[in-house]
Amino acid sequence: MKIIAINGSHRKGKNTAALLNNVLEEAATLGATTELLELTDFNIKFCISCNKCLGKPQCSITDDDMAAVGNKLLAADGIVLGSPVYWSNVTALMKNFMDRTRYLHMIKNLLAGKVGAAITNSGLRHGGQEATLKIMEYFLQGHGLHLADTRDPEGTIMSAGVTGSLMADFKDDKVIWRRSATDDELTVTACKQLGRNMVKLIEQLNK
Ligand SMILES: Cc1cc2nc3c(=O)[nH]c(=O)nc-3n(C[C@H](O)[C@H](O)[C@H](O)COP(=O)(O)O)c2cc1C
Repeated sequence: MKIIAINGSHRKGKNTAALLNNVLEEAATLGATTELLELTDFNIKFCISCNKCLGKPQCSITDDDMAAVGNKLLAADGIVLGSPVYWSNVTALMKNFMDRTRYLHMIKNLLAGKVGAAITNSGLRHGGQEATLKIMEYFLQGHGLHLADTRDPEGTIMSAGVTGSLMADFKDDKVIWRRSATDDELTVTACKQLGRNMVKLIEQLNK
């Protein structure tokens, strides 16, 4: 079982990567092979809206890294997207990646039946996380993936998704910032549950 994470943060290895790694590490403890792809490592050009992918499941742009990333998506059983909130939305890197996956979707939903999940984090406590999460979930559903959630089937519900934040508290007229989104135990707990639920859902679907 292969689960890959796509990090749309413009900062490699920071908060979003740390959260994605928590999802992947938990999935790995249950036997999954995992890989984190940092979009900053790939040259992915803008979609030029040539609409060639309406005729065949191929992208007309071939002189960049999108085909390599697309092949990794095709080979995975599970795909978890991570983006920090940028203006209550996904980052430009994540959106560009989304646009360029159109060739995997128009003629035939080539990623359909896989398991998908999304995580986000932002500076503020209510900084647009829910909107950002939904944008990624709509994308995954559009591609026909089954969405995993953060519910612990045997425990209490704690989180509707992974929506971290750097804002920890407010004391003496000052905001107390977390050094990392992973300093919030609830966010890390939700990541780990998501990793377990992805593995479980992939197993159920492949029975
Ligand atoms: C261009 C830009 C836009 C941002 N927009 C928001 C926002 O709308 N709401 C918010 O709470 N934080 C916003 N942030 C803060 C990031 O979401 C936050 O710092 C996040 O933890 C960064 O993740 P990273 O460490 O993976 O880069 C923004 C940051 C940048 C650079």
